[in-house]
Formats: sequence, structure tokens, C-alpha cells
Amino acid sequence: MKVLLFGKNSQVGLTLLKHKPKLINLISINSSEVDFLNASDIASCIFNLKPDFIINAAAYTDVENAELNQDEAFNINANAPEIIAIEAKKINVPLLHISTDYVFDGTGVMPWKPEDKVNPINVYGKSKCDGEKRISNVNGKYCILRTSWVFSEHNKNFLKSVINLANKKNEISIIADQIGGPTSAESIAKACYRLIEAYSNERFVSGIFHFSGFPYVSWADFAKAILLKMNYTTHINEITSLEFEVLATRPKNSRLDCDSLFSTYNIKQPSWENDLVNVIEALKRNEKK
Ligand SMILES: NC(=O)c1ccc[n+]([C@@H]2O[C@H](COP(=O)([O-])OP(=O)(O)OC[C@H]3O[C@@H](n4cnc5c(N)ncnc54)[C@H](OP(=O)(O)O)[C@@H]3O)[C@@H](O)[C@H]2O)c1
Repeated sequence: MKVLLFGKNSQVGLTLLKHKPKLINLISINSSEVDFLNASDIASCIFNLKPDFIINAAAYTDVENAELNQDEAFNINANAPEIIAIEAKKINVPLLHISTDYVFDGTGVMPWKPEDKVNPINVYGKSKCDGEKRISNVNGKYCILRTSWVFSEHNKNFLKSVINLANKKNEISIIADQIGGPTSAESIAKACYRLIEAYSNERFVSGIFHFSGFPYVSWADFAKAILLKMNYTTHINEITSLEFEVLATRPKNSRLDCDSLFSTYNIKQPSWENDLVNVIEALKRNEKK
């Protein structure tokens, strides 16, 4: 099976490469090979390679800068995925597109179901939400996998920021009124391969699905767990979203209800606490190199 991956160097992309099953021929593409700001590059890449399955893990993920670079965020997160979906439909292959909890406004305390009303509250969320709509409107084979709070040993992420801050300070302030499910890139990569396997076995069902780590926690609680696993004694000062100055407002309730992924594909919510141990070990190994 020939799988085309956009977003080779993303947290998810690098982890997909690491966990690739033997029988999959994974052709991974970075932004210098195909720039999502260039629509014809995307189309000709898919036309030339004629993959059996496409994963899109590339995105404009800088939530703060998206507020300032709206056009770029929409081109990468909405226009490009639409082109991928159109080209995928032309060759009759599925698109697995990674999306986000930020399509919701974060009201209430109940976990969001895939069919709940979207209402993004920042530019990044709006652009990802637009991307989802455009993919589903193309009406080909697709799976939109919404996930949240991605962590890994790669790139910039909350886990690495907390460790960097704790290396410099005895006390750090972390938001305690945003709740969600931290999700390891490893668990996302494994879920992606399960979806590809389902497609090979003719058990693929198009639609929007949720996948996040469990249990749900606040950023502050996640930070405490990280520091505990690192054996750091840094104090976490719990603050509210209002006390943290940002350009982009974040949803307070990012809990994702992942039941439909389990009932359709038998994919369970992973324990982020178990995955955290693996990522911290990987970071320590990288440090020694
Ligand atoms: N990070 C999170 O907490 C989070 C939460 C929920 C959902 N998600 C979603 O999960 C997916 C993966 O996120 P991630 O954190 O793994 O990503 P990431 O590490 O931030 O990497 C994003 C990737 O997008 C690629 N990209 C950016 N601009 C591009 C362009 N113009 N053309 C082509 N590629 C471009 C970059 O490619 P190059 O490196 O080659 O330039 C980069 O590798 C995204 O869809 C994201 O929206 C992430």
C-alpha cells in the first residue's frame, strides 16, 4: 500500500515515520517539496504519485501568529486540504486529515461529540474548521480525525516548553481553567495506521472522529505530571486564562468524546500518562546523544 504523507516534519509526521508498518510504502513530503501555498504543487504531487491513501498532518499550527497571518493560516489549513480532497477524489482514495478541538468554542463541561456544533473562537480554529467543511463538501472518501494537546519529543509543544521553563525557574505559572486530553503523537500515529488497516480490509467509514488522550486534565495538572516524571521540584502556580496575556483566546472545555472512533474502528482512548513516560525517556536519550 502506497501512503502519501503531507507534513513529514510535523510531530505527527515524524512519529508516523518512526512507527511505519513494514507493508506500508510511506512517501513523506515536507514543505520545501510541496508548499501548501502553491495549489498546483499539491495537485501535481498527488497526480504523479497516485497513492492508495493520503494523510495530511501538515498545518499552520502557530495559534498566536495565526491571529496576525490570517490569509496564510487559511491557505494552509483550509485551501490546501480542499485541494488534497479534490485530488484524492479524482483517484478515488481516502484522505485522513488531522484536525483539532479548537473547532469548538469550549463552553460547558461535557466532552464534545463529532456532530456537535462547531464555533471556533480564534483564527487557527476558524481556518481548521473551514478546512474540515471544505473536505466534507468535496464528498470523497475522508476521515477527519480531531485531536488535542499533541505532545512528543519533536518540535515545539507544551511538554517541551514546561521542561525548558522548569530548567530556568523555580516557579512557573500555568493555566488551570482549560481542560482537555493530552494526546501523544505516538498514539495518533498508531490510530492512523489502524485506520489505514481498516481501509485495506474494506472497513473504512468516512466521517469526523475524535481521538484524544485520557483522563482529561487542566494544563496545570498536565504540567505537574510532566515535572513529577522528570523528578523536578519546580512549583506550579495555577492561574486563570484571564491572567495569561495572549492574542488568541483558547477554548476552556477541550474534552473530546471519542466513543464513535471506538464503536466504528475499535480504537480506544490512550492513557496519556503511559505515553508521557515514553516521551520523557526519548527526550532524555536525545539529550545524551
Ligand atoms: N500541536 C497540537 O497541539 C495539535 C492539537 C490538535 C490538532 N493538531 C493538528 O495535528 C496536526 C499535526 O500537528 P503537529 O503539532 O504535529 O504539527 P507541527 O509539529 O506544528 O508541524 C506542522 C507542519 O506543517 C507543515 N507546514 C507548515 N506550513 C506548510 C506549508 N506552507 N506547506 C507544507 N507544509 C507546511 C510544516 O512542514 P515543514 O516542517 O516541512 O516546514 C510542519 O512540519 C495538524 O493538523 C494540527 O492542526 C495539533
